[in-house]
Amino acid sequence: MSTTTLTTPIQLSDAELKLLQTLVYQECGMCFDERRAHFLQDRLQRRMKATQADCFYHYYRLLTSREGKEELAKLLENLTVNETSFFRTKPQLDLFQKQVLENLLHHKQERRDWTLRIWSAGCSTGQEPYTLAMLVCDALAYYYLRNPLPYEMPSPKPLVPPPWKVEIIASDISYSALQAGQQGQYTESQMEPVDYTLRLRYFEKLRDKYEVKKPLKDLIQFDFHNLKTEYLPQRNDVIFCRNVMIYFDEAEQKRLIEKFYRCLNRGGYLFVGHAESLFGLSTKYRMIHQNNGTAYERIEESA
Ligand SMILES: C[S@@+](CC[C@H](N)C(=O)[O-])C[C@H]1O[C@@H](n2cnc3c(N)ncnc32)[C@H](O)[C@@H]1O
Repeated sequence: MSTTTLTTPIQLSDAELKLLQTLVYQECGMCFDERRAHFLQDRLQRRMKATQADCFYHYYRLLTSREGKEELAKLLENLTVNETSFFRTKPQLDLFQKQVLENLLHHKQERRDWTLRIWSAGCSTGQEPYTLAMLVCDALAYYYLRNPLPYEMPSPKPLVPPPWKVEIIASDISYSALQAGQQGQYTESQMEPVDYTLRLRYFEKLRDKYEVKKPLKDLIQFDFHNLKTEYLPQRNDVIFCRNVMIYFDEAEQKRLIEKFYRCLNRGGYLFVGHAESLFGLSTKYRMIHQNNGTAYERIEESA
């Protein structure tokens, strides 16, 4: 049994490591194979220090107990990689704005369906959902520059012209990331990919930070969702789940892609990270590739 003082690095036995890997995998789908075992041990050590657990066995007992739910959430939070940025993978976002949104707006208007629902699954600290919100608002404005609005535009012009309703769900497993997203304050270096016209329109300067303006914030609902579970946001027109599946193994990736299929509306779209793909994982999506941007469209099962 591995014991630790607060200073010596913990050395897990193979069996202990396996127990921990299995628990983490079952809880959130993240896969810590040999390549990432060191990271897992490092984060474990931090949490053991914080809880003053004197050995792995006691800490594991806590994690698996009813009283240990909060500690388990903290451990998982410590294992997540929250790297993100505004306008990440530009060619994909161009495809989203110029083709996917244009299509959706056109077809939805024809059906008099005025709700657009987008889910940023694994949103980290919010840069992705805010990027999507800016792209949607600009796409709507541009669409109605070229097409007559079916209803009179109120004055002053709202970000989303009525009767449209835009809902962006931003979810993550990390509470601290969700809190940062909800706060919507970003440093100069985080703002680097945001050009000045967008800064002027959508941000307020707050001492040394930029804060997302309320009308844009109001389009986004930050919420805790563990992608490992079955209870996930439904009826989405578009799902962005980028740079999340890379931490899952193939079996978990397949399960997730299948769940996304059910979470999408008919004809909905899925975007995954540029280093990720649905190749070999599902045949239920049609790949769209344009100018280096890739998206996947849900294929409808024939009745
Ligand atoms: C590398 S970030 C990607 C952020 C953003 N999608 C992007 O591409 O810039 C991965 C995010 O996935 C989240 N994550 C990992 N496993 C998850 C799970 N099982 N359920 C929900 N979110 C998860 C992490 O907390 C982290 O914030």
